[in-house]
Amino acid sequence: MSLDHDALEPELERIATDLDDLARFRDSAQPGWTRTVFSDAYRGSRQWTAELMRSAGMDVHSDPAGNIIGRCPGRNRELPVLMAGSHTDTVHGGGRFDGIVGVLSAIEAVRRLREGGHQLERDLVIVDFLGEEANEFGISCIGSRSIAGLLTVEHLGRADSSGTSLGSALESFGLDPERAIDNAWHQGSVHAYVELHIEQGPVLERSGTSIGVVTAIAGIERLMVSFRGRADHAGTMPMELRQDALVAAARAVLTVEREACGAPVHGVSTTGRIESRPGAFNIVPDEAQIWAEMRSVDREWLQGARRRVAETIAAEAEAQGVVTAIDWLSDQDPVAVDADVADHIAASADGLGLSWEAVPSGAGHDAAHIAHLAPMGMIFVPSVNGRSHVPEELTHLEDLGRGAHVLASVLERLDRTPTISRGVPG
Ligand code: HGY
Ligand code: MN
Ligand code: MN
Repeated sequence: MSLDHDALEPELERIATDLDDLARFRDSAQPGWTRTVFSDAYRGSRQWTAELMRSAGMDVHSDPAGNIIGRCPGRNRELPVLMAGSHTDTVHGGGRFDGIVGVLSAIEAVRRLREGGHQLERDLVIVDFLGEEANEFGISCIGSRSIAGLLTVEHLGRADSSGTSLGSALESFGLDPERAIDNAWHQGSVHAYVELHIEQGPVLERSGTSIGVVTAIAGIERLMVSFRGRADHAGTMPMELRQDALVAAARAVLTVEREACGAPVHGVSTTGRIESRPGAFNIVPDEAQIWAEMRSVDREWLQGARRRVAETIAAEAEAQGVVTAIDWLSDQDPVAVDADVADHIAASADGLGLSWEAVPSGAGHDAAHIAHLAPMGMIFVPSVNGRSHVPEELTHLEDLGRGAHVLASVLERLDRTPTISRGVPG
């Protein structure tokens, strides 16, 4: 028996209250909403999320990777479960919506199903994944990688600028790194995964569309390049004899930017940070580093961009007598959304009379890793002015409500769909 999906309409004021309550957990000494993984603000918010899941009637536990997992029992506990969720950690100086809307809307879906007295056939598992955002270890999506069996001992050995390893950081957070890399859910244990997320770009707002049906999640190639030149007196060494590491790094920043500006397909690139030493007015810099990334939903372009950028940076630096070393920090492939799940999301939006369009995701998401475990789909809601990863990040409550309604509706539809292909959207 299918449910009248109007009964799944979210309570907007309740979501608004949850958003405001969670937004209180932030590092007030930092700009915007800063609740980075392993921070005290984040530690406090994990207990709040677990409590919210419990108050929605779910059995709640934290797994060895620190994922907060709520379970709403279905009629048949033997069946592969439905999963929904996202993350509640933020970037430094971030906003109040990125990831957060996916966790809160999934909890609201559980409340609406229970309040309507509708028990699904399958268990519905809601996950607040640990540490989705990029961090100093160079490993984003820590919790979802762990559940998908993709968190490795090599990842645990990655160190941040203070020399602390990811494994030590997990331990200091009260987690068990050895079990976190042995935490994979079995293949076939999850029927489907759906994540609601803010678009973090301008497409839906510009077209006036309520819902984004995500087609693919961009792959990400992140690199740190070290430049080694020679320090000299800035006043006496002739220009043509210098080995200026910072000039080579600056050229590399423009190489990274140029690579994406000419991209024939979806492709973006960013250098987020540059450092040099010794940092004096009157000494030619002998060391520099840049941290950069390139992204695309087109695997071929992304692999080509990785090769072209590496070759050009090395050649241009060598022409200046500067030596380079490239450390590839993360190589996340593009991931296609499952065609059936995307179709169910579109059908749910249609069923609720909401406009929708197919959109690629330039942002990375936990869904990209959970796709290794189950058929995956994502729902986008509009971002005001397309802004995200900044305090100005904003999604209007009504838009969020429409997305949460589609999420609840598609979960109910998938619950009644015995088999879901693992095809790729047409
Ligand atoms: O960086 C990203 O794409 C995501 O917001 N973590
Ligand atoms: Mn996110
Ligand atoms: Mn983000």
